[in-house]
Amino acid sequence: MKILVTGGTGYIGSHTCVELLNEGYEVVIVDNFSNSKPEVTEKIKKITNKDIKFYKGDVCSRELIEKIFNENEIDGVIHFAGYKAVGESVKKPLMYYQNNLESTINLLDVMQNHNCKTFIFSSSATVYGIQDTPKYVETMERRKQSNPYGRTKSMIEQILEDLYTSDNSWNITLLRYFNPVGSHESGLLGDDPSGIPNNLMPYILRVSTHQLEKLTIFGRDYETPDGTCIRDYIHVVDLAKGHLKALKHAKENPSNLYIYNLGSGKGISVQEMVDTFEKVNNLKLNYVYGERRAGDLPEYYADANKALKELNWKTEKTLEDMCKDSYNFAINSKSE
Ligand code: NAD
Ligand code: UD1
Repeated sequence: MKILVTGGTGYIGSHTCVELLNEGYEVVIVDNFSNSKPEVTEKIKKITNKDIKFYKGDVCSRELIEKIFNENEIDGVIHFAGYKAVGESVKKPLMYYQNNLESTINLLDVMQNHNCKTFIFSSSATVYGIQDTPKYVETMERRKQSNPYGRTKSMIEQILEDLYTSDNSWNITLLRYFNPVGSHESGLLGDDPSGIPNNLMPYILRVSTHQLEKLTIFGRDYETPDGTCIRDYIHVVDLAKGHLKALKHAKENPSNLYIYNLGSGKGISVQEMVDTFEKVNNLKLNYVYGERRAGDLPEYYADANKALKELNWKTEKTLEDMCKDSYNFAINSKSE
């Protein structure tokens, strides 16, 4: 089976390509390297010892997507391509709406013309907005997102629901990721944002490799057991495997629209993350406690039961694995 992976050289996409290739899928990647590097394709090949077909370019380009579909018999699409930096989306909302929405609409339109209707979308827990309880379940309504990035995810979910209503021969799966961290065990693939990271794990990695001086833990006065925020961190390899389960499920149960949380179902505090990182990697992190970060919620995590029941998927890797594998990637990429 041949799968088109948009954004396949990015963090989650590259890990998913590895799992697809290991399971015997043929993989076609399209990426414009706006947030990834060309050498990732070689790394994917090195890890899997399999070949991939790669197209460099923009998913917003009608001509390019048509060309890909004309040249390949595509059975399904996993759509990772998009911009994802929350802070940047506040400063450049049009850039976010343009890239994330236009790429998706363009892709769906070409798919429709080629009668390829299996589509898996990278959504986010951010679409839940603020709920009354911290455990987020798929039956909850989407609530106001705090930034344009989050709104692009919510809008795309709605576009996909409308598309499915108009033609229910579509086979659509919305995967709502919680907080992906970790790296492939080879240390070759990982999350390496350009500039100063905003997210917790990339920041910890820069501090642990002495590229940044200290980590600030944002807030120690939340109503949580240790006062720091709680999130549901998920190892990227578990997350990647979730896509394969979703793909298999979609092929076996076609003509539907499914929504799944992909998370561990367990909340971890920032303090626990920092303590575990120090322990498993046998190092001291330079950190201080600072003010709360605007817009942060005290606590949320996934209700992961639906994915377990319907996809037969659950996370397997531990917090220790997440910390160990992330650090392995950081030291490996620093020495490159
Ligand atoms: P990433 O930035 O590492 O990967 C995205 C890839 O898409 C990059 O390689 C980038 O070059 C490419 N890209 C962006 N716009 C493109 C375009 N118009 N045409 C072609 N290529 C394009 O991000 P990631 O962490 O791997 O995230 C993948 C998807 O998952 C994104 O849609 C993101 O919003 C979503 N997501 C990520 C997280 C997270 O914490 N990483 C959480 C929830 C959802
Ligand atoms: C954010 C986004 C979410 C996005 C996710 C991954 C919001 C509301 N949510 O989630 O849409 O999918 O990033 O890209 O913006 N922290 C520190 N110090 C740091 C960095 C983070 O203490 O230097 C804390 C934060 O306060 C938070 C936790 O670590 O409690 C996780 O933060 P982060 O990795 O940025 O993810 P989220 O804010 O959960």
